[in-house]
Amino acid sequence: MDAHDPPPAAAPPLERRPEDELEEVRELVAGGAPLTGSLASRFYRAVHALDPAATEESLAPLPGNRGVHLYETLVSWAPIVPGEQVVDLGCGSGGATRAAARLTGPEGMVVGIDMSPEALDEARSRTDPELPVLYRRGDVRRLGTVPDRTFDCALASMVLDTVDDLEPVLTEVFRILRPGGRFVASVTAFDRLRPIDASFMGAVIAVVGRHAPGALAGRASRASIPHEPADAYAFREVGLATVEEQDVQFAVVMEDVEDAWALFGRTYIARVLGEEGRDELRRVLERRTPHTLYLPLRFLRTRRPG
Ligand SMILES: C[S@@+](CC[C@H](N)C(=O)[O-])C[C@H]1O[C@@H](n2cnc3c(N)ncnc32)[C@H](O)[C@@H]1O
Repeated sequence: MDAHDPPPAAAPPLERRPEDELEEVRELVAGGAPLTGSLASRFYRAVHALDPAATEESLAPLPGNRGVHLYETLVSWAPIVPGEQVVDLGCGSGGATRAAARLTGPEGMVVGIDMSPEALDEARSRTDPELPVLYRRGDVRRLGTVPDRTFDCALASMVLDTVDDLEPVLTEVFRILRPGGRFVASVTAFDRLRPIDASFMGAVIAVVGRHAPGALAGRASRASIPHEPADAYAFREVGLATVEEQDVQFAVVMEDVEDAWALFGRTYIARVLGEEGRDELRRVLERRTPHTLYLPLRFLRTRRPG
């Protein structure tokens, strides 16, 4: 892949409207069908099609402790230097892609890959054509057209949480990194909530339990990446054995329900709920605000042995 690649093919049309797809998934999940496997893929695909900039617009502006920023911190922690070849896996609206491209400079290149054509359209519209960026459609579990040992650095900003099984993604990461290349990712770390915020989130999750019980299947006792045994095993198995971690918090200041809805209304939590569930979620948020929620995230860094 280089700057002389032909322009990307037009995004194929969705088979169904994402609203209809989401409605069907919601009904199944409300009936208790576990939100895993292909049902989870359909859910995330529809949500990202409907609101491709949700992560960038709701998380990137939040103040992180110690001046942490969702994208700039990820790329500076990598660290990315001028001239490097970088891939941003699950690039969404391109926040991390652009932050990386500002560091590689014109001698380098950043390829943003996402499975959602809507996200790629959004990313292209937000990206200065002067930046050394290419956007490509692809599934990060199967990057068949990307040659082995292509990149100095792979990024995955807020993507790994939506992947059912990490091993295929990490296998591809290992394959496309040059020896010594880095993989840096950000994930949620709900196992690090402060007790007062766990109580807040518990009230929110209870609404999900009542209206969309399938969405909680297998999640209640799950440790955050990379601590769940299956995840730790996946990192080790593919050869990315040592994972450094930096836990950080992002402050969500919610004076009232409107502030709370600005964040929660665009989350997977609200998207999995039908109208009744969303109404109840708003009432819960109304009762629980004002509140400042410290949203725990985790930055991960590992490297393909050189
Ligand atoms: C929560 S959004 C994060 C977007 C962006 N990285 C950011 O931080 O703003 C997750 C993104 O990953 C993409 N994604 C999820 N699974 C994927 C897969 N298997 N292959 C490619 N993209 C995927 C989604 O389409 C979505 O745009």
